[in-house]
Order: sequence, then structure tokens, then C-alpha cells
Amino acid sequence: MLIMRGVLITFEGIDGSGKSTALAGVARMASEGKLAVEGRRFLFTAEPTEGEEGRLLRERLRGPAAGGVGAAAMRAGQMEELFLFMADHARHLAETVIPALEAGMVVVSDRYSDSRAAYQGATLREVFSDPMERVRELHRPWSVVPDRTILFSIDPALAVDRCLSRGEACPSAPKGPEKFEREEFLRVVAENFKTLARLEPRRFVIIDASRPIAEVLAETAEALAEVLAEG
Ligand code: ADP
Ligand code: TYD
Repeated sequence: MLIMRGVLITFEGIDGSGKSTALAGVARMASEGKLAVEGRRFLFTAEPTEGEEGRLLRERLRGPAAGGVGAAAMRAGQMEELFLFMADHARHLAETVIPALEAGMVVVSDRYSDSRAAYQGATLREVFSDPMERVRELHRPWSVVPDRTILFSIDPALAVDRCLSRGEACPSAPKGPEKFEREEFLRVVAENFKTLARLEPRRFVIIDASRPIAEVLAETAEALAEVLAEG
């Protein structure tokens, strides 16, 4: 039986909701000793990771879809994506998250298993009748459940505009008619995140991410301090 003394906190939300900005802000506060927590060591991490599968995923998400264009090829491609994200998560757990938790650290991850439930729960609607539950089921026997998940909640239209303003760093925010399509997709993902939060209200803290950066950061730091005060 594993003894994990650390704390796992995850940041979730649609692209452009401001997770990475908040994570960078919290990391800065931690390094300056400005978080209201004492004597804890932090590890800031993210999914997709910088590892082999993460690199593959980034390449894949950046480029055009490979293979056939019909419904069957598309379904197969989406399953491949699910398994790549799952493999990335497995390696992330084995090599980074679990060792840090075992060493008593506070692990803060920019995306984690709920991203799979929300995003692949949206892409796999043509494959499974209840894709979110299938994805959650896949994690259940072996993944580590976060102690707290901060959900950055924002209207997809605002999130896509934010992404567009950061240009190249956000390949998932297309211009033109695809922009509307992306917004519609993110609307489904955002609904999925809301459903996940409703299923586990004690784990989730929802932050209104449409507010100015300083306010979002202050609330994020508060949520972090609260969970650390509990454990
Ligand atoms: P995510 O990691 O969730 O995709 P980012 O943190 O990269 O989102 O933010 C997307 C863009 O929006 C960046 O250009 C960032 O500077 C900007 N941004 C982040 N948070 C806010 C905010 N609260 N208000 C305005 N702009 C923001
Ligand atoms: P990320 O680099 O976190 O993008 P962003 O900074 O824009 O939020 O993630 C890349 C994309 O991968 C993003 O569109 C979300 C998606 N994704 C999944 O579809 N499933 C997953 O399990 C994860 C971790 C990410």
C-alpha cells in the first residue's frame, strides 16, 4: 500500500481560461514565500507533459488530421488520441506525480484526468454512449484522485479571443469559420467540466476566470492555502 503524504491540486478549464497564467503566478508567489503556507515544497507540472507522449500529442494537435476522412477513420483517430493522452498520464504519474507525493510535496498540475473526461468526453461522443463515464472508468483503478481541483470557468467566446490574442502559442484557436466551430466544441467541453464538478462538489472549487488576472490569481492562491490548511 502506497503511503502518500503529499497533496495533489489540479487546474482545469477550457483552452484560454487562464490556467497557465494562474499556475505561473502561484509558482512565482511560492518561490517568493508569498503563499500563505509554510514549510511545504511545491512541484509545478502539466499535462500533456514534456515527455515522449506529450511531444507526440503536441505535434499531432498542431498538424492537420492524418489518415482517412470518413467517420470510421475519424473515430479511430480520436481513440488513438485518447490512448496517447492516457499513456502520457500514466508516465506522468509513474515518473513525476507519485514520487513527488511520496516525498511529501505539494503537486500542482496544469490539466490532469478531468481534461480527459471533459475533452475526450466531447470527441468520443460518436464512439460511446456515455464517453465521460467510460473515460472516468479507465482512470479509476490506478490513477491518483486530486485532493482539490480548481476549475477556471469562462465563456468559450472570451477564451477563444484570448487564445487568438496570444497567436502562435495557441494553435487550437483558429480564425475564420473554424473559430466558430472551435467555440462550439469548447462549449461542450465546458459543459462536461461543469458536470464533473457537480458529480464531485467537494473536490472542485470553481473560479470565475473572466475577471482580471490579479483577482483570479488571488482567489487561486486562497483556494490553495485552504486545501493545504486542511491537510
Ligand atoms: P490556458 O493555460 O488556460 O490555455 P493561458 O493562461 O495561457 O490559458 O491564458 C490565455 C491568454 O489569456 C494569455 O494570453 C494570457 O495572458 C491571457 N489571460 C490569462 N488570464 C487572463 C485574465 N484573467 N484576463 C485577461 N487575460 C488573461
Ligand atoms: P494544453 O497544452 O494544456 O493547451 P492550453 O494551454 O491551450 O489549455 O493542452 C493541449 C490541448 O490538449 C488542449 O486543447 C486540451 C487538450 N487535452 C485533451 O484533449 N485531453 C487531455 O487529456 C489533455 C491533458 C489535454
